[in-house]
Amino acid sequence: MIIAIDGPAGSGKSTVAREVAKRLGLRYLDTGAMYRAVTLLALEAGLIPERISEAQVLAASTPIRVIQQENDLARVFVGDREVSQEIRGPLVSRHVSAVSADPGVRSVLTERQRQEAATGDVVLEGRDMGTVVVPQAEVKVFLTASVEERARRRQLQLAAQGIELPLEQIANDLRARDAYDSGRALAPLKKADDAIEIDTTAMSVEQVVNAVCALALGKGCSRTGWKLEEGGEKPERWPLCGMVRSPLDTRLYRVAYSFIPWLWRHLFRMHIEGAENVPLTGPVVLACNHRSNLDPFFLGSACPRMVHFMAKAELWKSRALGWLVERMGAFPVKRGEADREAVRRALEVLEAGAVLGVFPEGKRHREPGLGEIQPGVSLFSLREGVLTVPVVMTGTERVVRNHCLRFPRVRVAFGPPIEIPSKDLPRAERGALVVQRLTDAMKALLTEVGEKQ
Ligand code: DC
Repeated sequence: MIIAIDGPAGSGKSTVAREVAKRLGLRYLDTGAMYRAVTLLALEAGLIPERISEAQVLAASTPIRVIQQENDLARVFVGDREVSQEIRGPLVSRHVSAVSADPGVRSVLTERQRQEAATGDVVLEGRDMGTVVVPQAEVKVFLTASVEERARRRQLQLAAQGIELPLEQIANDLRARDAYDSGRALAPLKKADDAIEIDTTAMSVEQVVNAVCALALGKGCSRTGWKLEEGGEKPERWPLCGMVRSPLDTRLYRVAYSFIPWLWRHLFRMHIEGAENVPLTGPVVLACNHRSNLDPFFLGSACPRMVHFMAKAELWKSRALGWLVERMGAFPVKRGEADREAVRRALEVLEAGAVLGVFPEGKRHREPGLGEIQPGVSLFSLREGVLTVPVVMTGTERVVRNHCLRFPRVRVAFGPPIEIPSKDLPRAERGALVVQRLTDAMKALLTEVGEKQ
C-alpha cells in the first residue's frame, strides 16, 4: 500500500502522515525534509541565490537520511551530521522554495523518493507525491486549511522549538511560499485529479487521521487490523459540510453550501440526528424518503459531505436549471424506465469515493409514513465497499403549501449503515434483503423522529 499525502505548508501533512503510518504499520517519508536538507547544504556552499543550479550536484553526491520518530518531526542526517533543527529554521524556510524549484534538484530527489516507495508499504508526504513521484499510489490525499489556521499551527510548532515569531509574519511567509510552490513550472503544488481533498481547518488531527485510515482500509490496507473507532469522534462544528471532498465534488456546491445550511437551520429550525453515521470518506449511498422538491437542499444541508443527487430528468428541460443542477453535482434520471446512463453516472460517483443521494421511493410521498422502496437501489448498495446510510426527513412536505412558502420545523435523521447481505446468497435474494433492511431502517427512523407508522 502506498499513500500519497500532499498539501501546502501547515496543512497538517506531517502530523497526519506520521500518525497514519504508525496506525497502519507503514513506513513514512517526509520529502520536504529532503528539500530542506539540500537547501541547507546550498546555503552553506554559498550557492544561493545566484548558483542554485549547482545544488543538483550537492543533492546527488550527499547521502540524506530521514529517520522516522514516534511522536515528533523526522530526524534528518546529511552524511553523519544531524541537521534536524537547522533545516527547520527560518533561513532554510525562506530559501527552500527556490531550491526545490530547480529541475536538477527535483530530478535527483524525485528518483530517491521513488526508490523509497518501490518496496511499497509507505506513506509519502510532500507537494508532488500524487502527481509526479507516486501517481500510482492507492490512496491520494490533498490536505488544505485556511492560511490563518496554518499560520497558527506553524507558530505553535516553532514555539516548541523555542522560536517566537509574530502570526502575521508567519502568514505572509506561508502566502509567499504557497505562491512560489504552486506557481513553479516543474511539479507544482497541485491536487492530483483523483485525490481526495480534506479541508482540515476545523478538523481535529484525530478526525483527519481517521478519514485517511478509512480510505486506506477501503482500498484493502489491513496491516495492523486497525479499524475506525465505533462512532468515532463527533464533529465539533455544525455542520462539517464539505471538509472531505471527492475528486467529483464541485465548486458551486461548496460555495452554495457555505451558507445554505446556516440559513436552513435558522429558517426551519432544522434538527439533525445521527450525522456521525455518515462515514467521512469512501463511497456512500444516502437513501432518503422524499416529500418535497426541496428535499435535496435539506439533505445536502444535513450531510457532512457533498451529495451527488440523482434528480428527475424533467429539471433538465429548462437549460438554465439543468446547467445549475449539473454544476451542483447532480445528474438526471428518467423515472419509470431503465435508465442506463443514470446508472452509469451513479456508479461513477461511487467509484470516485463520493456520496450518492437517492430517493428510493421513486417519487414524492407527501403523506406520513414511507412509500414503497424500489428495488433499483440495490444496484448501488451491493457494490463492493459501498455503505448505505438510511435517512429520513419530516416537515419538508409542509414547506410549500398552496403555492405559499412556510417555515415548519424540519427534522433529519441518519441511521447506521444497513448490513449488506452475504455474498454467498443469490443476487436476487441479496437485492430483496437490501430493500427489506432499508425499509425497516427508514420506518424505524421515522418512528424515532416522532411519526407514527
Ligand atoms: O513540507 P515542508 O514545509 O517541509 O516543505 C519544504 C519545502 O519543500 C516547500 O516549500 C516545498 C518543497 N517541497 C517540494 O517542492 N516538493 C516536495 N515533495 C516536498 C517539499
